[in-house]
Amino acid sequence: MKLITTGKYPVIFAGILLVALIGTLDFITGSEISFSIFYLIPLFYVTWFTGRKWGFVFSVICAITWLGMDSLEARNFSVNAVHYWNALVRFGFFSVIVYLVSELKNHKENLEENIRKRTADLQNEIIEHEKAKNEIIKKNNQLRELTKKIETIKEEENLRIAREIHDELGQSLTALNLEVMWINKKYSGNKDLYDRTLMISQIINETIRSVRKISSSLRPRLLDQLGLLPAIESLAKEFQTKTKIDCLTELPAEKIEISQNTSATMFRICQEALTNAARHSLAKCVSISITREHNNTVLMSVKDDGKGMDEDKINGELKGLGILGMKERAFNLGGKLEVLSNPDLGTEIVLEIPLENKK
Ligand SMILES: Nc1ncnc2c1ncn2[C@@H]1O[C@H](COP(=O)(O)OP(=O)(O)O)[C@@H](O)[C@H]1O
Ligand SMILES: [Mg+2]
Repeated sequence: MKLITTGKYPVIFAGILLVALIGTLDFITGSEISFSIFYLIPLFYVTWFTGRKWGFVFSVICAITWLGMDSLEARNFSVNAVHYWNALVRFGFFSVIVYLVSELKNHKENLEENIRKRTADLQNEIIEHEKAKNEIIKKNNQLRELTKKIETIKEEENLRIAREIHDELGQSLTALNLEVMWINKKYSGNKDLYDRTLMISQIINETIRSVRKISSSLRPRLLDQLGLLPAIESLAKEFQTKTKIDCLTELPAEKIEISQNTSATMFRICQEALTNAARHSLAKCVSISITREHNNTVLMSVKDDGKGMDEDKINGELKGLGILGMKERAFNLGGKLEVLSNPDLGTEIVLEIPLENKK
């Protein structure tokens, strides 16, 4: 087959042999049996493998062979010219076949070429798509790293500012208050001075309280001094006082050994979940629970009995960044955060963080 299809001349040679064979058979079988259809075999073969030009040449050869066989068989027609007329008609018929076969071949080749091109285009598209996907994944990871870094820097900065406000400003104010009270006592005989210094002292005390509040909102002292559980307990109390929503806690009796970073993250997540409950849920009661699981993870749940949210809100694009931020924080510590919610049944934020994480 390879020999037949690779070179032009072997095909022509094989075609000639075929015509000779068919001519001989045509001659042997005599004029009564029609042999016309078999001439199409070499025509089809030669046209398909060498092209239209050689196909027409073979139309002539086949027509002449047939004419030759007619003459040899001494078929008698009333007028001799009928032989030539028939040969001409056969040539016309063969030419039409050659034309159609070559068109079919062209069509097939065009189709194959188009498929090849389209496949190559598709492969390029797939490669481009894959590249773009990898680029997006890379950028996404970079963005996550950046967010993590910003978060860490923010926590560190908060800690530093909170300490400075508390220690420096707090101490100066306390010292100032002592001085004012000294004047107050020393000149207690002077009513105006006594009243004024007392008032100044009150203002200073209020300022000290504000300073403590600001410093504690930046970074709760309890978190660093006593750890996560007392800080959460205090956060719950403060939340209840501020919002008038009952806040229950269910915390382990024993301290959980976690890194400062993890406890700060858990605290921030709890804070955001409480803020959401106060802002969106219309809840009457919120409960916070922290449990240590056997598989060395810690679970934190913040659950409210408010109006909840529908499926679209949980899975769809969130307008706010609170839930997204909570999820990112959890992810950065190798954990995960889920939002479980049903309309009218409230919302529960469940955080799971591996304990061995010492980041
Ligand atoms: N505890 C909740 N109860 C009801 N709806 C909530 C609760 N928490 C969040 N949502 C809904 O989810 C949305 C997204 O919350 P969040 O990402 O924290 O953004 P933000 O608080 O800035 O709106 C809120 O706007 C609110 O509609
Ligand atoms: Mg929020």
